[in-house]
Amino acid sequence: MKIVMLGAPGAGKGTQADRIAAKYDIPHISTGDIFRSNIKAGTELGKKAKAFIDQGLLVPDEVTIGMLLDRIAQDDCSKGYILDGFPRTIPQAESLTAALKEQGTAIDFALNVDVPDAAIVERMAGRRACLKCGATYHIVYAAPKKEGICDVCGEELVIRDDDKPETVSKRLEVYHDQTQPLIDFYSRHGVLHTIDGTQNMDKVFADICGILGE
Ligand code: AP5
Ligand code: MG
Repeated sequence: MKIVMLGAPGAGKGTQADRIAAKYDIPHISTGDIFRSNIKAGTELGKKAKAFIDQGLLVPDEVTIGMLLDRIAQDDCSKGYILDGFPRTIPQAESLTAALKEQGTAIDFALNVDVPDAAIVERMAGRRACLKCGATYHIVYAAPKKEGICDVCGEELVIRDDDKPETVSKRLEVYHDQTQPLIDFYSRHGVLHTIDGTQNMDKVFADICGILGE
């Protein structure tokens, strides 16, 4: 099963992708998490990506596409995967479609988690992230068991550098301009499903399971 998550920054893509990955036993691949772990490790890729991410801009396609296509060529992806944060531009979607077509496959589901901009700003302000394992929390809606500590790996939680209000509005602008057109793209491919992302996390997940099947 090959799944793409669509939705604005903060719509809940990562939250839902984690649950989907656990239930359907497929890897959760987040390009944002890959960039953040490279930034934390101080790699060349991380340095390149940080300059764009901190401004709320997209990392250029020539960096991102190759990185993602290499990742999905790994053995653990043979049964499928869930892509969270990729594709984000039409060229990224076209490259993915072309690479899959060469293998005689295609994306099975594009899940669009729909949340209006006003709700996004509140979510981002309360988000806490684990830069070690990628787990996501919210101080009100999904608090960790111990304040400031990741339930999964025990790492200290942080506020992401790109969750400052000014950067969030830039990310929303970039989303509407460059990523929203993918909704039409996947609709034309006949695999688009839109979910009301303003519901609580369990309800959003139940709707997604209804689409993906048991
Ligand atoms: P990325 O890490 O992908 O960030 P994003 O798309 O902006 O999305 P977020 O991770 O901010 O939000 P999310 O939808 O995962 O929401 P979450 O589940 O955390 O990318 C970061 C940057 O990297 C980009 O800006 C770009 O620069 C670069 N990048 C990445 N991929 C790229 C690509 N393909 N091309 C170019 N550049 C790329 O939820 C948000 C909060 O809300 C959490 O606190 C959560 O607990 C809470 N929450 C979730 N669901 C609910 C709910 N139903 N009710 C209440 N609260 C909820
Ligand atoms: Mg995320």
